[in-house]
Amino acid sequence: MEQGEQGQQKQLQLTEELKQEMLKHTGFSQDHIKEHYDEVAEKYDAIYLNAGYHDHEQCGQLVNSFFQENKDIEILDLGCGTGLVGESLKLHGYNKVVGIDASKGMIDAAAKKQAYTELVELFLGKPDTFPEQFRDRFEAITASGILAEGHLGVEVFDEFLLALKQNGIAVFTTRSMYLEKYGYQKRMDELEAEGKWKKENQVSFLRYDNLGEEKVGRYQTVEVFAFAYRKL
Ligand SMILES: C[S@@+](CC[C@H](N)C(=O)[O-])C[C@H]1O[C@@H](n2cnc3c(N)ncnc32)[C@H](O)[C@@H]1O
Repeated sequence: MEQGEQGQQKQLQLTEELKQEMLKHTGFSQDHIKEHYDEVAEKYDAIYLNAGYHDHEQCGQLVNSFFQENKDIEILDLGCGTGLVGESLKLHGYNKVVGIDASKGMIDAAAKKQAYTELVELFLGKPDTFPEQFRDRFEAITASGILAEGHLGVEVFDEFLLALKQNGIAVFTTRSMYLEKYGYQKRMDELEAEGKWKKENQVSFLRYDNLGEEKVGRYQTVEVFAFAYRKL
């Protein structure tokens, strides 16, 4: 984690108002994903960073571990949200980042971070209609916090591979408990067995660790993995 970012997070407080906001955003599904995130967009950073969200920094670090010698690469940030990953990549010196998200509210928030060359409103999880302009184009893709309950299923792995050039790196995070629950690990292993990609790294960390033992709606301290796979 970036020292500066970590220092800042430790000083933040989860106010009662933010906790009430977190409780409102507990039950939702893909059917209402746009509405959910349009509504949460304004308070997203305050809620997530205060609770102890680190996925974006872990993704930034993992990407940097592969490309620090050549930062002039194009990166696609899938489910970019308010742009926390773009911001982390920018801190590492990456300036060619394209963001995609289903929620206009989240994209508008991401635009304010000035970390993306292009931001596109697009519903992911439909590899058959994945736009031509994003195919076979990127040296790296990131997908931070989108492999989750009510979010994206295993189809999005095909979009990772469509977007990447050969040898490109996919960096993504998910709760460890979701690997089996939502079939992510099975599909990741299948793609590896089919020779589509190869695991390069796996890092574990805690998400929402500022909550300690406390549970606020669906937010509680959980183990998360960040993965890096190379497209073959
Ligand atoms: C938990 S946020 C993560 C945002 C950001 N990557 C981060 O780490 O802070 C999940 C994001 O995924 C987006 N999302 C969920 N389902 C999507 C879909 N089918 N297509 C595109 N974006 C989607 C949401 O709009 C939201 O911005």
